[in-house]
Amino acid sequence: MAKRKNDNPYIYPGDMSFTPAKDLKDEEAKKEIDLLREAIEHHNYLYYIEDNPRISDYTYDRLFNRLQELEEAFPQFRSSTSPTCKVGAPPVDELKKVEHTAPMLSLNSALDEGEVRDFITFVKRNTGMKDILYVVEPKLDGLSVEVVYEGGFFKYGSTRGDGITGEDITENLKTIKPLSLRLRDNAGLPGFLALRGEVLMSREGFQRLNRQRIERNEEPFANPRNAAAGTVRQLDSRKVADKPLDIFFYDVLRSDREISRSHWEILQKFPRWGLKTNPLNKRCSSFEEIRNYRLELIEKRDELPYELDGIVIKVDDLMLREQLGTRQRNPRWAFAWKFPPKKEITRVRDIVVQVGRTGILAPVALLDPVEVGGVTVSRATLHNEDEVKRKDIRGGDRVRVIRAGDVIPEILERVDEEGEKRGKTFSMPGSCPACNTKVVKEGAYTLCPAGLTCPAQRVGRIIHFASRNAMNIETLGEKNARQLVERGMVKDPADLYFLSEKDFLSLNGFAEKSARNLYQSILKTKNPALDRFLYALGIRHVGEHVARVLARKYGSLEAIQNASFEDLLATPEIGPEIAESVFNFFREKTNREILARLKEAGIEIQRVEKIKKQPLEGKTFVFTGELEKYTREEAQQIVESLGGRATSSVSGNTDYLVAGRNPGSKMQKAREKGVTILNEEDFERLIGAK
Ligand code: IVH
Repeated sequence: MAKRKNDNPYIYPGDMSFTPAKDLKDEEAKKEIDLLREAIEHHNYLYYIEDNPRISDYTYDRLFNRLQELEEAFPQFRSSTSPTCKVGAPPVDELKKVEHTAPMLSLNSALDEGEVRDFITFVKRNTGMKDILYVVEPKLDGLSVEVVYEGGFFKYGSTRGDGITGEDITENLKTIKPLSLRLRDNAGLPGFLALRGEVLMSREGFQRLNRQRIERNEEPFANPRNAAAGTVRQLDSRKVADKPLDIFFYDVLRSDREISRSHWEILQKFPRWGLKTNPLNKRCSSFEEIRNYRLELIEKRDELPYELDGIVIKVDDLMLREQLGTRQRNPRWAFAWKFPPKKEITRVRDIVVQVGRTGILAPVALLDPVEVGGVTVSRATLHNEDEVKRKDIRGGDRVRVIRAGDVIPEILERVDEEGEKRGKTFSMPGSCPACNTKVVKEGAYTLCPAGLTCPAQRVGRIIHFASRNAMNIETLGEKNARQLVERGMVKDPADLYFLSEKDFLSLNGFAEKSARNLYQSILKTKNPALDRFLYALGIRHVGEHVARVLARKYGSLEAIQNASFEDLLATPEIGPEIAESVFNFFREKTNREILARLKEAGIEIQRVEKIKKQPLEGKTFVFTGELEKYTREEAQQIVESLGGRATSSVSGNTDYLVAGRNPGSKMQKAREKGVTILNEEDFERLIGAK
């Protein structure tokens, strides 16, 4: 590796013109490949470890593509640790077993403060020291892996397995973006370095992955941890490459030279070598500090992108660690202090019915307040009547409540009590609890058909209209919306724009300044983007994504209003349910009136650049077997980027089945249904790649 980064012209490339690969001599190609690798690794480091990128994505891509081009033209210079190897390798039949370089121990743990105090006392007693430094780290809820570097190069990695032997997941680990394939040659880098770290998936990545899986009729993962574990043990590493995995390192399992006698010092070296550490790690010197650290993390827990299930307390001094030793499979110098579980048992006081903005009546359980994962919970949604029946929940029951991530609390199950006398079974009321209109049943759902004459729907609709991702009326919260509706000042969203500063002054808790603020924050929203405005209208089945799809296709509100049902249905991603809902919404008299008054109030919707008709618009694809040049995900993305849809099973709506090597049963089904079958070449021709 070049000593001075400035020697490398690709680190901060100026004008980037490359000599055609065919005009390069071997030595020239080799030199350029080395410099490109170094530059790309450097930028990976800035991006993933320092979180401080210094070149544009465009420039990065040009460097990356050039390296790929040269590696293809000069295969003799290929290397398994080149940054281009982060995209996956051909699939394997099974994961091989590998022995760890040192046992991967597990931790003693507790939820109870007393046991943590006992641990601290134990450490003091057994070292004979009063002032001990601890390193506290978030306990990351992912899966533990061993990663081995030799001569600074990533060699292999494995799952924890039984702690002695794990499974070889080398190819999969290589695709994890923040994992460096070559370490930075900073002072003190051991020649042999085996590390322990945690592979994680962010909550957002997990939700995205699950959405994809559901669309493809695959079983969704139960939580981010399972998603990370399932992904990292895939046999086809190319399918790992596009998944949002992350890795943090927290321990040295073995090295050929002493790095430091302080764990904290070691953790400081990691990022300098290109190993990502968790930014929340901290050094503490007292139990109080440790306790505060844990409380801070519990507070932050829901805001962090990934899940934590506690903190790990580690004695900092490695000499003291040795003195304390290990018992069974647990070191006596470390302890995990868990977070309160996100599941808890409590009692249902009553089941009431709440009317949402779309008129859906939802049973809500009122609970004896209980702390779940550090947050007090006193109500939990039960979704619909069927769910209450299926879970058989009644007033007075003991239930297990779960709060997963930032999701609203839910009742997981009833906890049986022996010989209990149970309350009455729940049934939905025949009329709306807010406006007394007779309800209607629609599948599993019960609806109040009164629309905007129902006060509950009025409030709900105003709150939704004003919410952050809709019109974003900053100071109109739930309380104010409720007051405005209760006082009869607002019946629908358009009314908001006809109120004056003086009107707001009459509300409870309002003074001149707050009235002006609210007035102005409403005024500020008079030029909404079309997609936000559509979403704000609260049309059933039109979430943010569908709103964007419609906005891009039609470009203006008028065009959407005038679209026929068939035309709506011909939009990619819009099924009959959505098309019907949108179509009906704009035909309803009250909705038309509200739209007219919004216009009258001066709302001017920003038009959206209409997307040109795309080549595969309205076409549905299914893939089977293995393609040579594309992974399944890539092929599906290509189809979507050209306006088509990719689904997982052949149906009457399928236009093309693309069949690769070893096609499955979909082939037969496609033949039966008379679906056009394409091979890879036909497919490439269709997408314009040939
Ligand atoms: S230290 C001997 N540090 O928690 C040291 N573990 O049984 C053992 N974990 O499955 C591990 N975050 O995967 C350590 N900052 C952290 C951790 C951590 C998560 C996991 C680890 C293991 C479990 C402990």
